[in-house]
Amino acid sequence: EKGGYDYFMLKEIAEQPKAVADTLLGRIDASGSLTLDEVRIAPEVLREVDKVVIVACGTAFHAGLIAKYAIEHWTRVPCEVELASEFRYRDPILDQQTLVIAISQSGETMDTLMALRHAREQGAKVLAICNTNGSTIPRESDAVLYTHAGPEVAVASTKAFLTQLVACYLVALYLGQVRGTKWGDEIRAVIRDLAQISGEVEQVLETMEPVRELARSLAGKNTVLFLGRHVGYPVALEGALKLKELAYMHAEGFAAGELKHGPIALIEEDLPVVVVVPSPRGRSVLHDKIVSNIQEIRARGARTIVIAEEGDEVVEPYADHLIRIPVTPVLLQPLVATVPLQVFACELATARGNEVDQPRNLAKSVTVE
Ligand code: F6R
Repeated sequence: EKGGYDYFMLKEIAEQPKAVADTLLGRIDASGSLTLDEVRIAPEVLREVDKVVIVACGTAFHAGLIAKYAIEHWTRVPCEVELASEFRYRDPILDQQTLVIAISQSGETMDTLMALRHAREQGAKVLAICNTNGSTIPRESDAVLYTHAGPEVAVASTKAFLTQLVACYLVALYLGQVRGTKWGDEIRAVIRDLAQISGEVEQVLETMEPVRELARSLAGKNTVLFLGRHVGYPVALEGALKLKELAYMHAEGFAAGELKHGPIALIEEDLPVVVVVPSPRGRSVLHDKIVSNIQEIRARGARTIVIAEEGDEVVEPYADHLIRIPVTPVLLQPLVATVPLQVFACELATARGNEVDQPRNLAKSVTVE
């Protein structure tokens, strides 16, 4: 059942290239355009959308945070992302021109279900991104884009997260395509890159032995911090969540720009800090800023674990441990940057003697509010 792996989580991490490829399958046509016919919301309706609101919990919420960067960049439609458990209790502003995207692996998460019911009552259109055919959330939505990760058994979400990202990118690009934006050329180029991305995920998986070794060496630590910027910020949050739930360690993710506003006070001698470095191409200003952050925390004794693109030499002198990821378009980087963090958390949990597939106190699908 576990296909030769010790844990479902290891198997599911390894299945990610296929999960990503399967989620793209049949959705990019020969001319390089997206064909999301299953999204039964008519293009005319999508052209009228003036706000996107994403609701989700946990890991799916992190996928939503990343989607915001993609949706706003490629469509210029404002996008909010909210924890499903908070959403309906604050009287959110919704109407017929609001597109609500509910992201859920199981399709049964009660908080997300209640949020989408509330949204529909207010007249908003709801698109579900879901991994479980025929589950409640897609059944109660106006439309659904299924992720094709296959069954996810381990409680900690891995391959479902990567496919949620793919689905979010598809929706963002599709909205851009339908509405027509000034980013038409970029959208076409990114669709081409997305079609290749499962190869890059595979490449990351092939280079994970040093990450496992590093994780084992940190088994006695109490705290690990994660820093990121732009789409690397939600990746940092996801890395921290994986470590909490699997290794039962104190782990926190921060936006690197916030360091100086408080969290830098936490830095002490030999504290492991994982930094997700944005591409030096594209938004290179952010790259420079995060390099300064790495220098600052290292000067205060932190042990820096740096995740950086291949060819990024600037970070080398400041990285106590350097984890390389392939070059991707800026917005797609989370698809490769998250993988080492999953491997890291899984290995740390194992080294600490924890039950990887069934962490304490957690259930795979949370059907109570
Ligand atoms: C974390 C994890 C949870 C789920 C969350 C939402 O690894 O698995 O945070 O992501 O409970 O679950 P779904 O996606 O089923 O709605």
